[in-house]
Amino acid sequence: MRAAIFIFIFITLCLISGQVVCFKVIGCAGGSLMFKCTYKNQNDQHEGKYFCRDENCKVGISSKLQNRWDYNGRFALYDDENSRFFTVFFKNLSREDHGKYTCGNTQKWSRDVDLEVKKESCGTSVIRDEYVGQTITFHCEFDHKFKSRTKVFYRLKEGPVHVLNSSQSSQSSEEKIILSDSRKDHFTVTIRDISADDGGVYLCGVERYGSDPSITHISFIKEIQLNVYSGIASVQVQAYSSKSVFITCKFPQKFRRNKKFIQKDSSQKIIVDEQNQWVHHDQVHMYDDSSEGLLKVFIRDLNLDDERTYKCGVNISDLLTEVKLSVNQVDHFRASSKASAVIGGSVNLTCDFPEKHGETFKHICRENEQKICESISSSEQKRFEFSVSSAGVFTVIISNVSERDAGVYWCGAETRDTHLTSVSLTNQHQLTVTMPPVVGREGDSSEIKCPYNEKHSREVKHLCKRKCFTEGAQKIIKSDESHVNKKISVKDDRELNLFTVTLSELRAEDAGIYWCAVRDEFNLHTELMIVMKDAVTREASVGGSVSISCQFFRNHKSLQRSFCRGDQPNICVRDGVRVSSNTRTNGRFSLTDETSAGVFTVNITDLTEEDSGKYWCAEESSGSFIFTEVHLHVNRGSSMIVAVSVGLILLAVCLALVLLKIKYNRKHGIISSSDRRETGDRDMAQEEIQGSDPASTPLDSAAQLPTNPSDGLLYAAVSFQKREESGVHCSVSKEEIHSDYASVKHSITPN
Ligand SMILES: *[C@@H]1O[C@H](CO)[C@@H](O)[C@H](O)[C@H]1NC(C)=O
Ligand SMILES: *[C@@H]1O[C@H](CO)[C@@H](O)[C@H](O)[C@H]1NC(C)=O
Ligand SMILES: *[C@@H]1O[C@H](CO)[C@@H](O)[C@H](O)[C@H]1NC(C)=O
Ligand SMILES: *[C@@H]1O[C@H](CO)[C@@H](O)[C@H](O)[C@H]1NC(C)=O
Ligand SMILES: *[C@@H]1O[C@H](CO)[C@@H](O)[C@H](O)[C@H]1NC(C)=O
Repeated sequence: MRAAIFIFIFITLCLISGQVVCFKVIGCAGGSLMFKCTYKNQNDQHEGKYFCRDENCKVGISSKLQNRWDYNGRFALYDDENSRFFTVFFKNLSREDHGKYTCGNTQKWSRDVDLEVKKESCGTSVIRDEYVGQTITFHCEFDHKFKSRTKVFYRLKEGPVHVLNSSQSSQSSEEKIILSDSRKDHFTVTIRDISADDGGVYLCGVERYGSDPSITHISFIKEIQLNVYSGIASVQVQAYSSKSVFITCKFPQKFRRNKKFIQKDSSQKIIVDEQNQWVHHDQVHMYDDSSEGLLKVFIRDLNLDDERTYKCGVNISDLLTEVKLSVNQVDHFRASSKASAVIGGSVNLTCDFPEKHGETFKHICRENEQKICESISSSEQKRFEFSVSSAGVFTVIISNVSERDAGVYWCGAETRDTHLTSVSLTNQHQLTVTMPPVVGREGDSSEIKCPYNEKHSREVKHLCKRKCFTEGAQKIIKSDESHVNKKISVKDDRELNLFTVTLSELRAEDAGIYWCAVRDEFNLHTELMIVMKDAVTREASVGGSVSISCQFFRNHKSLQRSFCRGDQPNICVRDGVRVSSNTRTNGRFSLTDETSAGVFTVNITDLTEEDSGKYWCAEESSGSFIFTEVHLHVNRGSSMIVAVSVGLILLAVCLALVLLKIKYNRKHGIISSSDRRETGDRDMAQEEIQGSDPASTPLDSAAQLPTNPSDGLLYAAVSFQKREESGVHCSVSKEEIHSDYASVKHSITPN
């Protein structure tokens, strides 16, 4: 009864002289909708058509195409010039699409369209991965109120294309596609013997009436993306002798819970029994990843015997991928390397790849406890930066290295196929992570800090000199002791995951390599370098030589001796070594042992002023350093005379200036700068007249010579002041002068 009244109202409102001027369509959120917009009359076909929400058609589509689908985002429009309607297709509906629209011809006519989007989301979309030759069935569920309506099955090509519907009479069981309607809550579509051509997007829908039973539209409730794979694929994989290979076989989602297998040539299938964990059979390691539908295969230390055909497949189907593995002999890939990085620093790992893989992805992976190379977790990946540095070589820079980065890495290039990716791992890098060295002064205290992994936070941490739990290790302290004696104390901060040991009253014997350890699992070491309290200061003259004796603090037989220059001892032993017990002479530097005196001696000849500065005597015993600070001052020995004479000349200049000034002042009352160039050597002198404020009385002249911190040898400056014309003070003060180059600054203020 209600419906009848509604239809009556509709007819009165929407039928004007027998023509429909408005209609209603109903879709559901997540689904799509297809309806017809009917022409007013037959002659009206040549103008553009539209379906729009607003006047500017920002939401909607307008098109001038005929007999062809035109697209605009989620909208499509098809105008058939031989019909009295055009078709609109509206994809991926949402509740926001609910509302009033207009469809029509851009000039002559229009219809109001009332689009209702049902609250409940009934539209779904699925992906189906299937294999050539299979027979597949789609289930399309509908609301029971549609049980007597026509069900439709479309394929989305350029636009929706009708495949078949439930009211079609001839549906013999021999047909390739069969639709069967339960007439209750779902219908099914079966496609037999699928081929690659059947892949694509399909739509299930129901025919629906809007407010006017004479105008139907189609509400699509399900979208199916069908991927059709061919069952057996064969892929060539190139790998290298004594290197490793990581192969990933991809399977469709529907098989992800099924057992996978590996087969070597035509031997027995090796079923991968466990999912989501590594299992192995001989040297073939396998991981069945059930969330991704992947079977990962890792083979290391490849040799020619591994060159076989492997099959990876799903046990219950015919589906498999054949992997033809070839193991090549190469000698141009670099050997495995050892790299070391300081926590917080960065490290550069170099990898080779066959040049034909120039364009492919490059990979780096880290061995786990089972020595299987696993990919770097995505949260860590941003610290790994790849760059191809030259043909066949790429580098990976790991920045902000942390203690967790220690381990064995492999890198290589990828080959990718539809069913498989493989990475031929060509280079191995053993990365050791160390703490930055700690430099402590004799008598002071130092902290050794060990960051550890959260998983060890509840366990006991040990600090040892030399590697803990090995022979010769010397236990220092454990995290469950607060202190061993007043010299050593410990703190374990479980929130920061930081274990800190404080060593006080440092002595030479404390120098060494300290290891932090948790059981035998976690190890991290740091060097404690000791700087002795007493520094050595030496003076020498330019052109002469100097001999510096460095004391041994330990049994000198096994000690490495070196002499380096730099501000920081730890950097100096790395970058600033001038001479060492390995290279006994190096240019002007030579090193001799005077074992009886317990010293080694460094002799530097042909000294120049540049040799002045800070040096360190270093003694090293298996990575443990003791330093003595050395200050060297190279003086212009004979140049004391030069200094004095320069001083005297300047004094003379100054006096002359004063006299000249007095004279000129009397005569002209003004002074010009050219009158003041009296240093004798014009090329070498720079003169500047500053300030000429007649009101100020003092006359100052300071001779300042440009100073270079490393060669400040001569030290003289002249300044003189004239006060009230009563007295002239000229003084020679200690300041640095470079004898070759003099810049004289006069500040002359005539009164
Ligand atoms: C169903 O198929 C028949 C035959 O192709 C066709 O005439 C009819 O219009 C179709 N109905 C719907 C709702 O698509
Ligand atoms: C693998 O499939 C075969 C039949 O193809 C079956 O007999 C066997 O039990 C399956 N193995 C496992 C571990 O599922
Ligand atoms: C990394 O090392 C390689 C080889 O030693 C070198 O060619 C490359 O320039 C380095 N890259 C960086 C960024 O240091
Ligand atoms: C380096 O890593 C540490 C954690 O290991 C983090 O706290 C710090 O912010 C990182 N520094 C930079 C510059 O990314
Ligand atoms: C340094 O070596 C030179 C050349 O061997 C030698 O003449 C000089 O006496 C040595 N200097 C000292 C201070 O030992």
